[in-house]
Amino acid sequence: MGKTVFVTGAASGIGRSIARAHAAQGDRVIAADLSADSLDQLVDDGIEPWVLDVTDARSVEQAAGQVWTACSGVDWVYVNAGVGAPAALLDASREQFRKCLEINLIGAWMTLKAFASRMVKADRAGRLCVTASEHSLGFQHAGAGIYTASKHALLGLCDVLRHELPDTVSVSVLCPGITNTGFGQGEDASEAAKAFTRAMMAEGLDPDIVARAALEGVERGDFIILTHAASRIGWDRRVEDVEAAFAQVPDEGADAERYAVPEVIRRVRAQFSED
Ligand SMILES: NC(=O)c1ccc[n+]([C@@H]2O[C@H](COP(=O)([O-])OP(=O)(O)OC[C@H]3O[C@@H](n4cnc5c(N)ncnc54)[C@H](O)[C@@H]3O)[C@@H](O)[C@H]2O)c1
Repeated sequence: MGKTVFVTGAASGIGRSIARAHAAQGDRVIAADLSADSLDQLVDDGIEPWVLDVTDARSVEQAAGQVWTACSGVDWVYVNAGVGAPAALLDASREQFRKCLEINLIGAWMTLKAFASRMVKADRAGRLCVTASEHSLGFQHAGAGIYTASKHALLGLCDVLRHELPDTVSVSVLCPGITNTGFGQGEDASEAAKAFTRAMMAEGLDPDIVARAALEGVERGDFIILTHAASRIGWDRRVEDVEAAFAQVPDEGADAERYAVPEVIRRVRAQFSED
């Protein structure tokens, strides 16, 4: 029997490809995004549209409640809605920063919370997949700081969430590289920034390939799902930085007390490993 799948940011790009891939394999798919018009194109594929702004806490909760009841539960949830950085770090306003985090981070958390808490309460197995980015792993470029911060935060959030949830609910973090979608930085980005992003996206991977990797990775229960071999450039640099930093840390034996893992951390770790 087919699964019930809920996807945010499903009117376009990676989310649309994920929604279509699930529909093609016979799953019941609810595609959520900002406007009804942009979702209409999915109706012919048998996908059910749901108008939703992930920054609106009440409508996220309402969507989860109504979809859960109408479908007698939801099996897989893709938390995928996201936007790019509207401006570089030294140019951005606090409002721009806040807006990006509201969608990419807080909106993602609210969606996860709404569905995961229902899965736990119903003692029902489920799979959650959050679209982060290769930026979560150390890839970065000038101009994208706010976006990069939001995607790092998502990885951290999911790392904790997977330990807070029962084993029956898996958490995956999809970390794609550049993908050929309509991805943008929102209305208030400069024309130059928008043109740069459009040109970069046009060189990207087909979103159907990213969607396929997502479905397979979630099915396996992978925590991190990668799509681009070149993402390793960012990761290798991150590892180099961390290794260089550890090389500066005095040998544990020489100063054992200072570098010992505090007792409280040991207790928390032990508690997680018992779960
Ligand atoms: N395209 C890439 O190169 C790339 C790379 C890595 C990660 N990602 C991530 O993939 C995800 C999907 O992006 P995409 O590339 O498919 O871009 P996209 O713009 O084609 O799709 C994003 C979708 O999110 C929706 N959305 C934006 N704000 C929303 C809100 N408040 N509520 C509900 N929906 C909202 C948009 O309407 C859009 O349909 C994003 O989280 C993005 O950060 C994209």
